[in-house]
Amino acid sequence: MYVNKKMCRFHGGRYSENIKIDFSTPINPIGPPKFLEDLIREAVEKRLYMLYPDYEYKTLREAFSEFYNLDPEHIVLINGAAEGINLILTCLRTRDLIVFEPTFGEYRCLTDILDINLRSIPYLEREDFYYIDEDSFKRSIRDVDKEGIVLFSNPNNPTGAYVDKDLVANIINSSKNMNVIIDEAFIDLCEKCSSVLELVKEFDNLVVLRSLTKTFSVPGLRIGFIYTENKKILEKIDLCRQPWNINSITSYVFSHVLKEYKKDLYEYISSSRKIIEIEREFLYDSFRDLGIKVYRSYAPFLLLRHFKYKAEDVIKILNNHGIHVRDASKYPFLTPYHIRVSVRLREDNEYLVKVYKESGIR
Ligand SMILES: Cc1ncc(COP(=O)(O)O)c(C=O)c1O
Repeated sequence: MYVNKKMCRFHGGRYSENIKIDFSTPINPIGPPKFLEDLIREAVEKRLYMLYPDYEYKTLREAFSEFYNLDPEHIVLINGAAEGINLILTCLRTRDLIVFEPTFGEYRCLTDILDINLRSIPYLEREDFYYIDEDSFKRSIRDVDKEGIVLFSNPNNPTGAYVDKDLVANIINSSKNMNVIIDEAFIDLCEKCSSVLELVKEFDNLVVLRSLTKTFSVPGLRIGFIYTENKKILEKIDLCRQPWNINSITSYVFSHVLKEYKKDLYEYISSSRKIIEIEREFLYDSFRDLGIKVYRSYAPFLLLRHFKYKAEDVIKILNNHGIHVRDASKYPFLTPYHIRVSVRLREDNEYLVKVYKESGIR
């Protein structure tokens, strides 16, 4: 299948200079902790950019292992979850990729160039939420052999849908030994979700992808990790990544912050989750009251479906008020009326709702 680059490589965070409020980038709305920003300055003052980082990232891996309570030998550090997806698909050389859509466009993006068959299973919609149907999954993989890869994000982008641990375990059990990759890029910011990191002990075919760029509101620093107990996968990916995939500034910052500010970061994550939950509820209620279809979400964003206005018209109106949102109309199975809105802090959220009301967007 030919995958149009413009369709799959199309992300939030790109807008013109007159935009003052960005609702298109799905990250922690609180912004990075001050002590993390101080460490970035410190790294620049030390001119660490003049050094190659340690390509084994021993200290950094230990910091991650301590912070997330994981075995450092089972961690591969990555340049954001996006690099993890890239590495998995390029290094594991699968013939079939099974995804649930609509989802993060990068999954689809590489399939064409790598000659991978994409099997797209639609999320099902019921009332105000999306869900994965286990029976559709089983039907779709009937004729796939164990060389395939199952990949999904949890919570999912852009629907905000969440699959609980029991269903993840069922999917893995039904996967006929295919490798199952769970992209948990948003899970740190979810109050009601639980990670499947602990399931790697049980399932040798499970790989978990994590991102810290959204958690700490630093998408420009590019950092995340892959976690699995599968030695073959670990070795392949570790060899396949470029040796210095985490730059020396990011490496310095996270080696220090995860160790020295562990307690502060736990508190930061915990209060971030609570604020996101409250603000997402505020936006959910406000959009529903305006007569716009809004989906239940476990992620720091909401998917909206308008009834009268197309996404492109909504974006034009909002842009004129200095606001940018994510066009969701090009995702498979969505419509020209869908957009995605990130959760921000109250003042911005109120402004967005006010612009919707005053402009009569429906
Ligand atoms: C599901 C999903 N995975 C991965 C990423 C990329 O995350 P990172 O910044 O860690 O590369 C995104 C970005 O929005 C995403 O939505």
